[in-house]
Amino acid sequence: MIFTLEPNEIRLLEHVGRCAAELGVPAYAVGGYVRDRLLGRPTKDIDIVCVGDGIQLANQVANGISPRPKVAVYSRFGTAMLHYENIEVEFVGARRESYQSDSRKPDVELGTLEDDQNRRDFTINAMAISLQEGSFGQIVDPFDGMKHLEERVIKTPLEPGKTFSDDPLRMMRAIRFATQLGFSIDPETFSGIKEYKNRINIISKERIATELEKILLSPKPSVGFNLLFDAGLLQIIMPEVAALQGVEDRQGRAHKDNFYHTLEVLDNVCKKSNNVWLRWAALLHDIGKPPTKKFDKEAGWTFHGHEWKGAIMVPPLFRNLRLPLDQKLEYVKKLVMMHLRPISLTREEVTDSAVRRLIFEAGEDLDDLMILCESDITTKNPKKMSRYLEGYEYLKERMSLVTEADRLRLWQPPITGEIIMKTFGLSPSKEVGVIKTAVREAILDGEIPNEMAEAFNRMVEEGRKLGLKPIA
Ligand code: CTP
Repeated sequence: MIFTLEPNEIRLLEHVGRCAAELGVPAYAVGGYVRDRLLGRPTKDIDIVCVGDGIQLANQVANGISPRPKVAVYSRFGTAMLHYENIEVEFVGARRESYQSDSRKPDVELGTLEDDQNRRDFTINAMAISLQEGSFGQIVDPFDGMKHLEERVIKTPLEPGKTFSDDPLRMMRAIRFATQLGFSIDPETFSGIKEYKNRINIISKERIATELEKILLSPKPSVGFNLLFDAGLLQIIMPEVAALQGVEDRQGRAHKDNFYHTLEVLDNVCKKSNNVWLRWAALLHDIGKPPTKKFDKEAGWTFHGHEWKGAIMVPPLFRNLRLPLDQKLEYVKKLVMMHLRPISLTREEVTDSAVRRLIFEAGEDLDDLMILCESDITTKNPKKMSRYLEGYEYLKERMSLVTEADRLRLWQPPITGEIIMKTFGLSPSKEVGVIKTAVREAILDGEIPNEMAEAFNRMVEEGRKLGLKPIA
């Protein structure tokens, strides 16, 4: 595996290496930067670890850059940050960390590069690039991170229990990286997640939500949500979504597994939109199903009113995950509530006013609602699939016809009777109506654009045909 660096990255790293040599502290580029450079992914920041004082190294580096960049110092964490051109560079001294079992606040002690690599989350994130003269550019890879990148596997450097109890968020990070990168999780590491899943409870909801968002923004989020479920984490962090899983069979009648259906809908939406809130709506669109599920001897399984129930469940879920409680919440709630509306309007006998009401109530979110609804068709029966899709095409056509008809009904030409009377000095009369109609027809026939200046000229012309002249 090789990596290529941008010329400004090489200049910066060589400069950091020289400054570190001046201070007598070995320095390395580490972590996600090394991983992403080897994968050829874009990177925005570089983490530098030195075996010594990271803040002192940051200042030395800044002194050698003109104009001298500002160094932001976070003395509580022993870190410092500066910007070099478009790169954000963070400096820290190598650490050996130990965590208390009931808290996330680490006790930090200075350590060696090896200590620092030992305390990192995954082998692919535990590689370092040497910045020393003589070994510049060499990769220090004690845990076979390169091999695991090639094998596309997420694995903890130490025994999984140690890595995950040091920082339980790493269980979610493992699943998030697997989803983002399309990697698998090493079986022993995955067993560790299952074993330590309850430790996720000590992690702040904000950090959990950030990982969920990264999973949602991946090309195929179903991978991550399946892993979260199989690990038992989803049941803890979003029990409403986990409750969708399962099939019940009564009197030979089974309903579909709403969890796997939901994930199919979510992946379908992701093929059509990058909007993270539309993706949230897809994940949550059926959460009202488990609490509204009923078995009826005649009708079989029903989920009446699940869209309303689901919409009611969205705000507490957002609150719990510390997601925004502003118009984004309202948007997700609205889509969950309306997700059955378009399908109910795909029949021919539906009236224009029902179509108009949908357009009005969905407002600016109509296109997103249609994406969600079309993505909701997950039938494996090709005949049914084409019937549903045809229904949607028909509805879309109806919607544009209704919109067009309404637009025309509301449309008023720019030339009013008032203007005509004022221009020609007329009182209300037949001529006013004749000129007004002629101008309107010219616009409707596309002879002139629907604009004031052109319409005015046409009005004057039409007046002239009737022997009238503008009075001023
Ligand atoms: N790290 C860790 N445990 C964590 C978070 C981070 O060991 N819970 C280490 C990893 O070595 C990681 C590095 O710190 O590579 C930088 O962390 P961060 O910037 O959060 O993540 P990246 O790996 O760079 O990836 P991303 O930006 O996608 O989160």
